[in-house]
Amino acid sequence: KTTHRIAVIPGDGIGKEVVPEGLRSLEAAARIFNLDLEFTHFDFASADYYLKHGTMMPGDWEEQLTGFDAIYFGAVGWPDVVPDHISLWDSLLQFRRRFDQYVNLRPVKLLPGVPSPLANRKPGDVDFYVVRENTEGEYSSVGGVMFEGTDREVVMQETVMTRVGVDRILKYAFDLASRREAKSLTSATKSNGISISMPYWDTRVATMAENYPGVSVDKFHIDILTANFVLHPDWFDVVVASNLFGDILSDLGPAVTGTIGVAPSANINPEGLFPSLFEPVHGSAPDIAGRGIANPIGQIWCGAMMLEHLGYSQAATAIQDAFESVLAEADAQVLTPDLGGHGTTGILGTAIAERITK
Ligand code: NAD
Ligand code: IPM
Ligand code: MN
Repeated sequence: KTTHRIAVIPGDGIGKEVVPEGLRSLEAAARIFNLDLEFTHFDFASADYYLKHGTMMPGDWEEQLTGFDAIYFGAVGWPDVVPDHISLWDSLLQFRRRFDQYVNLRPVKLLPGVPSPLANRKPGDVDFYVVRENTEGEYSSVGGVMFEGTDREVVMQETVMTRVGVDRILKYAFDLASRREAKSLTSATKSNGISISMPYWDTRVATMAENYPGVSVDKFHIDILTANFVLHPDWFDVVVASNLFGDILSDLGPAVTGTIGVAPSANINPEGLFPSLFEPVHGSAPDIAGRGIANPIGQIWCGAMMLEHLGYSQAATAIQDAFESVLAEADAQVLTPDLGGHGTTGILGTAIAERITK
């Protein structure tokens, strides 16, 4: 059997608490499905590493990670120690860019047993993907400050859209939509106000749509789209968005399904030239870190997405079935506080790992 080498990077805060639970499920799945997963742990991309070394990562991080089949990542950010724009730009955002993980795939699903803030919505009503562009757009380092420190200070930061960059994320989203039953794609835009890049995005969507006559396409400006996520989450199947819009939609989606604690993401380099990275949507949650109450399901679900990516659909489904079945029982002793229970990260993580079967 093939050995899969996986780099494990817990990062900061609750990343260090949920990653062990994710590994617990991955190890259970590996045992049951006879997979050979080899985990290598790294302490960089964290505030602890920064305190020791004065940088977020070693100079040769790229060489260190290049040979891995995947990266299993927790969360990074500890603003008391390192300003967020430094800790994130010098870690996670470098992974995404240098490893050309241009797809950020973020499922949004209302799960059984999870109380949703929306009235009258049941599991099955909300089940879609946010496909977020992950390497360019509004997240750019093009810009600067002029007349710094004077009252004429000017601050500029450009949005960068390349034809290659826009077309490849659209192609991924259209391919995904065409494989799904609903065959429907929604594009997030703001071409009424952002008058250069967003009309360009719209034009590329219209052009790409010509190759997919079986996929129905619509678009909404981001403002009303956020409203429709709350009012009509059942309308959506595949939602494709630029980097910043996708970021916002992928916290809002999980919030309407009850908690961002369950939301996973896959930062994918579809060509397989570089390792893809699997991390929950949430951050390091300094407000609850160290208390053992973080929901581990986002991290566990990431493990399922990673196994799917490595070609083990059955094992991935087994992990997914396990957490859905534990959630459906809605046992308050087991569920974490964000799910309305009083369980801990470890209790919930263990219950899920023990539930995995063939
Ligand atoms: P956050 O996602 O860390 O927390 C937002 C809120 O959600 C908090 O109240 C938190 O307690 C709660 N929450 C998050 N995950 C949870 C879980 N698994 N279980 C229960 N509750 C959970 O976002 P933030 O507060 O904006 O950011 C905190 C730090 O994390 C910052 O440094 C930020 O830059 C960083 N961050 C990192 C990532 C990442 O690594 N991918 C993502 C988002 C934020
Ligand atoms: C996410 C996070 C990151 C992003 C931050 C921490 C830079 O919010 O993964 O959604 O904006 O991409
Ligand atoms: Mn985000």
